[in-house]
Amino acid sequence: MNHTQELSVPPEYPESAAPAHVKKLVRPKAWQKATQLAFLRFEKKDLAEAERFWNDFGLVTVSCTAEQLVLRGAGTAPAILVATKAETSRFVGSVFVVPADTDFARLERESNAKPLSPERIPGGGRGVTLNDPDGTELWLITDWGSVPALPTRPPIHREMNVLGEIQRVNRTVRSPIEPALVGRLGHVVYQTSNFEVMSEWYMRHLGLIPTDVQYLEDGSPLVTFFRLDLGDQPADHHTFVMASALQPRYEHSAWEVIDLDALGQGQQVMHARGHKHFWGIGRHLLGSQLFDYWKDADGFDFEHYTDGDVFTADHETRYVPFSTGSIWAWGDDAPKAIFPAKSLGLVWRALKLIRQGRLSLAKLRIIGKTLDTPARPWL
Ligand SMILES: [Fe+2]
Repeated sequence: MNHTQELSVPPEYPESAAPAHVKKLVRPKAWQKATQLAFLRFEKKDLAEAERFWNDFGLVTVSCTAEQLVLRGAGTAPAILVATKAETSRFVGSVFVVPADTDFARLERESNAKPLSPERIPGGGRGVTLNDPDGTELWLITDWGSVPALPTRPPIHREMNVLGEIQRVNRTVRSPIEPALVGRLGHVVYQTSNFEVMSEWYMRHLGLIPTDVQYLEDGSPLVTFFRLDLGDQPADHHTFVMASALQPRYEHSAWEVIDLDALGQGQQVMHARGHKHFWGIGRHLLGSQLFDYWKDADGFDFEHYTDGDVFTADHETRYVPFSTGSIWAWGDDAPKAIFPAKSLGLVWRALKLIRQGRLSLAKLRIIGKTLDTPARPWL
């Protein structure tokens, strides 16, 4: 059977030409514009196991005590992940760098922010801690330090032979058998049952720009990919993603590696060391990254990626109809676990949101139908 007609790339409408029924995201005036996603914070019940996973994943240990693990990448950030010892493993929150002239007093006054003691910030600096509307912590820091970058191997694409273009003669490709050295933290994805409020809050506190908004057939947004507003400087297609769901949760984070061979060779090393593979290698559609997903011992998802899109601040927001197939352009079929499993718990959460007036039956039906439509029906 011929299924190629089902492999379609969805339309991407610039905001100014979006279909009439599409509900556009209203952008509030930003209080400050974040310049960098600094690091993520976790609590872990087994710091040694966590360190083993993250080292194999390509993060480099800066310090490790019985109480705290600090990890960096090859870039100049003093830390990209901080984990503290706790009874239960959980994602704690994200840390963003904001400009030095940020009005921290306003954040304390209007967002209930509290000053951070500087010794809690690896790399130094100052800032505040606050809770988003879902209760997840956000740190905003400034005057953050930097460290010398670590050496990285040259990217392999410079010597890649492609049809009609020979670059490599009398030499071979031998990518080193080693973890895929992570250069930097790329993005973090949150799920929320409070999409509008959470999106507005993060746009206001971080100055985020929606790059792509995926909408349902009723025109309501389901997933928004936000980038940082760096003006004329290119920013990653998304540094922060908000996905509408039945409960708030860390969905995954993504870490940039040097090239496709690092992604592939890193996968070999992760398999050999017994880690749980989740999805990949493939190429995403929105953001275009080549990706490979892993699960740590507690079931948290971590993505290796390379070759992502970047945009300057003047690039217009795009609106894209959501479908399960539009998550990736090519690669293995998306694992079922990427979508919510139908369970009593799920029904209970849906009923609770309907009772609170935050979800309608009609919308639940649309979401169910959309997620039930197989992305690649022949697989
Ligand atoms: Fe991702």
